[in-house]
Amino acid sequence: MRIAIFASGGGSNFQAIADACRAGEIPASVVLCVASSAGAGVCDRAQTMNIPVFVVKGISDPETEELQAVLARHQVDFIALAGFMRKIPGSLVRAFENRMLNIHPALLPAFGGTGMYGSRVHEAVIAEGVSSSGATVHIVDEEYDTGPIVLQESITVLGTDTPASLAMRVLEVEHRLYPKAIDLFARKLIQIRGREVIIQPKS
Ligand code: GAR
Repeated sequence: MRIAIFASGGGSNFQAIADACRAGEIPASVVLCVASSAGAGVCDRAQTMNIPVFVVKGISDPETEELQAVLARHQVDFIALAGFMRKIPGSLVRAFENRMLNIHPALLPAFGGTGMYGSRVHEAVIAEGVSSSGATVHIVDEEYDTGPIVLQESITVLGTDTPASLAMRVLEVEHRLYPKAIDLFARKLIQIRGREVIIQPKS
């Protein structure tokens, strides 16, 4: 499986996935990094690993044609969104139907949707006073954070948590959960029936 990772930030999830592929833990390779700006930390991580970077200018439909051409040139057959703060246009979602994942830093369907990203999610979780949060890996559909859920893992929200401390503990979960979900796709252990995601046991 040839993966493109889309990211806007520091790229710690990019690193976790790329490392797991390089270590042979996932039968796949990260062949492209798509970044929303040249200054994003993820670009340095990709360059260090000799993974090509494509910086998107905008991501409206005409520009997506160029992006789709770049994806085709690198023979990308799977996309992982890892903190990519732009809406993915419908044409790209449809081209990668059931082959595009996203990670969200909370337990969807709670604390998701428009405007819920990064530290805003953790602020909302703490403000709401819920006792658990965590991470969700889901299939990307044409809305924000609504696609079928592949894997979730929860952690306890501590009374002493700040958005930053919660973000750090959720990220630790993400770095385990995202490579695990991608591995299931790479090994073809996932079947999708409507909103139901069926996971075959690893033999
Ligand atoms: C991660 O916590 C990811 O779940 C979140 O952005 C962070 C990126 O961190 N994504 C969203 O909030 C999407 N709604 P990273 O750049 O270190 O991987």
